Amino acid sequence: MDITVNKSKKLRGIIEIPADKSITHRAFMFSSLTKGEMKVSNYSKGADCMSTLKIIEKLGCEIKFINDKEVLVNAKNALKAPLTPLDCGNSGTTTRLMMGLLAGQKFNTKLFGDISLSKRPMKRVIEPLELMGTRFIHNDYKLPLEIIASDLNGINYVSPLASAQVKSCLLLAGLNAKGETIFTEPYKSRNHTELMFEYMGADIKINNNSASIKNSQLNPTDINVCGDISSAAFFIVAALITPDSDITIQNVGINETRSGIIDVLKAMNGDIEILNERTISNEKVADIRARYSSLKATTIEGAIIPRLIDEIPVLVIAATQAEGTTIIKDAQDLRNKEADRISAVTNEFKKLGADIIEKNDGFIVNGKTELLGDCEIECYHDHRIAMSAYTAGLICKKPIKINEFQWVDISFPEFLNLHSKIQS
Ligand code: S3P
Repeated sequence: MDITVNKSKKLRGIIEIPADKSITHRAFMFSSLTKGEMKVSNYSKGADCMSTLKIIEKLGCEIKFINDKEVLVNAKNALKAPLTPLDCGNSGTTTRLMMGLLAGQKFNTKLFGDISLSKRPMKRVIEPLELMGTRFIHNDYKLPLEIIASDLNGINYVSPLASAQVKSCLLLAGLNAKGETIFTEPYKSRNHTELMFEYMGADIKINNNSASIKNSQLNPTDINVCGDISSAAFFIVAALITPDSDITIQNVGINETRSGIIDVLKAMNGDIEILNERTISNEKVADIRARYSSLKATTIEGAIIPRLIDEIPVLVIAATQAEGTTIIKDAQDLRNKEADRISAVTNEFKKLGADIIEKNDGFIVNGKTELLGDCEIECYHDHRIAMSAYTAGLICKKPIKINEFQWVDISFPEFLNLHSKIQS
């Protein structure tokens, strides 16, 4: 589906953002290990989370949709050998977390994915899982691959990468391993696995950038998933850059390991208010108000990068509207996402008229620039490139065309519908 985005007038209104993708993946996967029944409310309906849900069904879980917002997962007969290979679709989180979950099971499993996922590196999880005793059949550490049933031993793993996918993979394997599994990372990545494991009764301890887990059984515990700050980011930036805008986004997860986007946009002079803070299913949640602002440039590097890694494409759009030079560095793993996001952002957003210099590990963005539009944008099969381009389109002088916009369905099928509610 190709779409045209026209320059927008002010954005106004109160909206609720769909559920967090990372938390939904975990709620589904962890429910499959409970040997009981639990309800997941307000789950993400994006294609990525549906890939995870279908996989746990193939592993023996009974899935019952109670209504539009709630799903019941019955894992009393899970986990058993799937009859066919497991399809991870476009989802890196499904693949890498599932690999940890499946590594300590009593049966072999085959995993595969779409073209984009089949190019993504799995060495980061295969290597430590091999150290724990898992055997794999793979070609160049990529999908498709086979996990051979093995007995696992805990390891003390110091990761070169700050990655929640690697961390969660090892903690999931650690649930079934002999002894203790310790994972340490250079900076703290998102900690939804640790929080949900605590909530579900696992024997887990956290010490700064380390998490350690002992062989544990997860208890079935109903989970209510909060709104996704990574999805909210597109609306927050849209309000900050579109003159006279004032929007409130309700029920957004503001977990500190995810809220780097708020810190950076506030440092850029963004008018953002955090309202009505509360805790839901062991996660911090709030309503976020964002108003049109005169942005100024900043530098984004180091420990904050894992706290906003998925928001960098839309932050680049904000940087084009900020006075001065914004520098984004230490983000080389952006090249290993659904697309190489460093080259995709540079190539596509330059077409809009942005002044962006590509670096090996990030960008230099000079602002403030008037975005002229009048061009065709490619999404590179990447939902976040599609939504970032749409956000830019709201302030482009002339309409832009975005090709294959249907990639938004990976995380945010409700995106256009929600936009229609705030555009006047
Ligand atoms: C995710 C972790 C991040 C993020 C991805 C979701 C997760 O990846 O980019 O969209 O749910 O654990 P890395 O852990 O590879 O940085």
